Amino acid sequence: MDPIISFRDFTFQYRAQARPTLYNIDLDIYPGEKILIAGPSGSGKSTLASCINGLIPFSYPGESTGTLTVDGMEAKKESIFALSKSVGTVLQDPDGQFIGLTVAEDIAFALENDCVPQKEMHAAVARAAKLVDVDHHLGFAPHELSGGQKQRVSLAGVMVDAVKILLFDEPLANLDPAAGKQTIELIDRIQKETDTTVLIIEHRLEDVLWRSVDRIVLMDEGRIAADLRPDELLCSPLLTEAGIREPLYLTALKYAGVTLTPDKKPAHPDTLELTEADKDAVRAWYHAAPAAAPAPLQPVLLEVKDLRFGFTKDRT
Ligand SMILES: Nc1ncnc2c1ncn2[C@@H]1O[C@H](COP(=O)(O)OP(=O)(O)O)[C@@H](O)[C@H]1O
Ligand SMILES: [Mg+2]
Repeated sequence: MDPIISFRDFTFQYRAQARPTLYNIDLDIYPGEKILIAGPSGSGKSTLASCINGLIPFSYPGESTGTLTVDGMEAKKESIFALSKSVGTVLQDPDGQFIGLTVAEDIAFALENDCVPQKEMHAAVARAAKLVDVDHHLGFAPHELSGGQKQRVSLAGVMVDAVKILLFDEPLANLDPAAGKQTIELIDRIQKETDTTVLIIEHRLEDVLWRSVDRIVLMDEGRIAADLRPDELLCSPLLTEAGIREPLYLTALKYAGVTLTPDKKPAHPDTLELTEADKDAVRAWYHAAPAAAPAPLQPVLLEVKDLRFGFTKDRT
C-alpha cells in the first residue's frame, strides 16, 4: 500500500525566520492509520500540520526543500482548495471558524461553496451531523453550544466533504477532562466507522491514549525524535528527554520499582500486563505509599489501586 502522506527529506523555513522550523523530515503515513504527533511547544507540530493542509505556503509563506505528497498530490504545487478536498482540519479554537448563523448552515458551508444541489446538501448535512452527534442541534446558533459541541460541529463541517485525512491540532486544549475524553472517543469512533487517516497533535499524551493510536511521532526542535508504537515509546526515555510528561501511572509504576518493557503493554492501564514480581512490588509500594510517595504521585495511588493488580481481592 502507498502512503497517503509522505515527507521525504523535507525542510521548511518561514519567510520571517532566520532558520528552518522543520529539518529533514522523513515520514510515511498510511491510509487508515491513527497517529499521535507529540512534542514540546514550539517543536514544529503545527507547522508540520500546515504543510499537510496547505496553509503553508498559502497563508504562511516560506521555502521548502525535499518533497511532500498528500493523497497523490505534490503539496506545494497544489492549491489549498484542492488539498482541502482530501484533508479536513479541526483547530483548537473552533469559534473563529464558524461562518453560518446556525449549526446546519455552518456544516453546509463547504457544500454551498461547491454549488451542491439543495436536496443532496440536506442529506449530506444530516449524515455528517449524525456522525458527530449534533443532529439535535441543527437549528442552534454556534455560540449557544458548549466547547465540546462546537468542536463536533467544526468536525461535521469537514466530514461533510468526505475527506480522507482528518487533522486535529490540540483538540483538547479548551476542554475539561470529561469533554476531552468524549472527544477522544468520538475521534476513535469516526476513524473506525469511516476509515479515515487521523492525525492528532496533542501534548496531553495521557488523554489521547485513552483510546489506542497506531504510532506516536515525537517532534523535538523541528526534527522527528521518535516514530514508535506507543508501547515502545512509553518504555523509552525519549518522552522525558523531550520534556513531555509521561502518563502518571507509569511514573508511579517506575517509582514502585517496575521495569517497563513493550511486552507489558504500558500504553493503556487496561492492557497493562505485569509479572507477579511486578505486582508484589506495586503492592508493597501501595501499602507503604501514603507516607513514602512524593506528593505529585499521591493522586495516582487511587488509579494504580484500580489497575488490575488484584488489590480488591487482596483486601477482602
Ligand atoms: N506563521 C509563522 N510565521 C513565522 N514563524 C512561525 C509561524 N508559525 C510558527 N512559527 C515558528 O515556528 C516554530 C514552531 O512553531 P509551531 O509549529 O507552532 O510549534 P508547535 O505547534 O509544536 O508548538 C516556532 O518557533 C515559531 O516561532
Ligand atoms: Mg501548535
